[in-house]
Amino acid sequence: MKNRRDFLKDVCPTVAFAFFGISFLEACSSESDDDVGTTNPGGGGSGGGEASGFSVSGNVYTINLTHSNFAGKLNSVGDWMNGNSIGIPALFLRISSSEINGYTNVCPHNKLRNSWSDYDLTTGKFICSAHGNSYPSDCTTAGNGGVLKCFDTILNNNTLILTIS
Ligand code: FES
Repeated sequence: MKNRRDFLKDVCPTVAFAFFGISFLEACSSESDDDVGTTNPGGGGSGGGEASGFSVSGNVYTINLTHSNFAGKLNSVGDWMNGNSIGIPALFLRISSSEINGYTNVCPHNKLRNSWSDYDLTTGKFICSAHGNSYPSDCTTAGNGGVLKCFDTILNNNTLILTIS
């Protein structure tokens, strides 16, 4: 005989909704609302959680900049990091005392994520070592293959909110 969870797994959501109504749809979820860091759209690494210094809800990443994965890495203008290795599919760049920009970490040229070798503060460009192309960080000027797309960010003290779009 099936227990309630197995039953819901087998029939969710259509049948359960038809029999029991909307309240049972929530019981069909494989994760609770308290789960964090289990979404990892295209990134590598651990996928987040408190141990990684960020949580994920849909496409929104809430990042604790005091966590060791980030602390000291984005303090000064021109500091940058690729979040791919810790499960955030984005580049980060400190552009002022009150702003950290987020960018896709997919190179516009051949769509690689992990070949970013540097950010040149003088030219304002990220450098992809795969083929030596560089990409302006202004969110509008194209490099070879296109513009390095920006994501929305909000910096509030030591919390950075990144929305992947
Ligand atoms: S993949 Fe980045 S320069 Fe070619």
